Amino acid sequence: MNRVVFYGLVVLLICGQGYAGKFYTTQDRTKLYIERDQKLNWYEAQSQCAMRNMSLITLDSVKKFKQFTRLSDNEFCYNFPDSWIGGHGKRDGTYAWISTGYNFNFTQWERYQPITGGERKCVLILGNTYEWVSEFCSELRGFVCESLPILWETSRAMDKLKSSLETQKQEVDSFSNLTKVLQMKDKEIEELNNTYESNRKKLIEFECKKESYKCTEEKIRNTETEIDGIQNSNKDQRRLLQAMDMELDKLRKELELEKKTGNKEFDEIMAFVKEALEKQKHLL
Ligand SMILES: *[C@@H]1O[C@H](CO)[C@@H](O)[C@H](O)[C@H]1NC(C)=O
Ligand SMILES: *[C@@H]1O[C@H](CO)[C@@H](O)[C@H](O)[C@H]1NC(C)=O
Ligand SMILES: *[C@@H]1O[C@H](CO)[C@@H](O)[C@H](O)[C@H]1NC(C)=O
Ligand SMILES: *[C@@H]1O[C@H](CO)[C@@H](O)[C@H](O)[C@H]1NC(C)=O
Repeated sequence: MNRVVFYGLVVLLICGQGYAGKFYTTQDRTKLYIERDQKLNWYEAQSQCAMRNMSLITLDSVKKFKQFTRLSDNEFCYNFPDSWIGGHGKRDGTYAWISTGYNFNFTQWERYQPITGGERKCVLILGNTYEWVSEFCSELRGFVCESLPILWETSRAMDKLKSSLETQKQEVDSFSNLTKVLQMKDKEIEELNNTYESNRKKLIEFECKKESYKCTEEKIRNTETEIDGIQNSNKDQRRLLQAMDMELDKLRKELELEKKTGNKEFDEIMAFVKEALEKQKHLL
């Protein structure tokens, strides 16, 4: 075997493994995901990171920058490819980190970089020098994702929010239960009210009947009084009759006397009185 081929193979064996997307951990225990072979534009790269609950790497301090370069030197045998990192140009020409939203406060721009005012808004880290350049976002490159504490905090906060929402939902549920109970009570009250209403109506009807009964009683009493009146008037008439009888007797006696004197006028009067007496008798 040729020496060149042999050393080439050794380099391949040591450095050539696992270049396809892979997780790494820096010395300060930051988790990274580095994709060398799959080339994507900046946005696709960021969404690939997001799928892993990560973001394109944020290099916002000397310390982080050094941790990253040390790791890639070791893992990639000083053969690290140009890769997308999490810097993105803003409309005002400044640059910010996609994960935190903070403007760059530490930079490693290459000389004459960044090129502002154009479409070169996405930040690329150069493999050979680790210097940064602003590049067209649509360029296809490898990329470096980082698992950011802020993301985990966000997801923890989301979890907390979820459980508090769950609690609130339970509260709402028990409140709606309470509302249901109240509605049931309302129905019960309505039913009671209905019963009360119908009983009240019955009572009123009963009172009315009692009233009409009273009325009948009154009528009976009135009728009785009327009967009494009639009876009394009958008595009066009888008394009148007796008085007339007595008068008649007197007249008879006078008639005897008159007969003796032969008074015709007296006879006529007698006939009239007799007739009236007969009529009275018929009325009784
Ligand atoms: C990302 O985080 C969410 C929320 O914590 C979790 O449900 C999901 O499984 C995570 N996905 C991955 C790929 O780690
Ligand atoms: C830049 O800002 C970040 C976030 O506020 C901070 O963690 C970092 O230490 C800062 N870096 C420098 C060089 O000031
Ligand atoms: C609401 O009431 C139902 C039955 O009426 C019960 O099963 C459920 O546990 C109650 N929910 C709450 C939150 O009290
Ligand atoms: C009971 O019913 C009557 C008529 O149906 C209504 O006027 C009244 O407001 C009701 N009372 C209650 C306490 O619901």
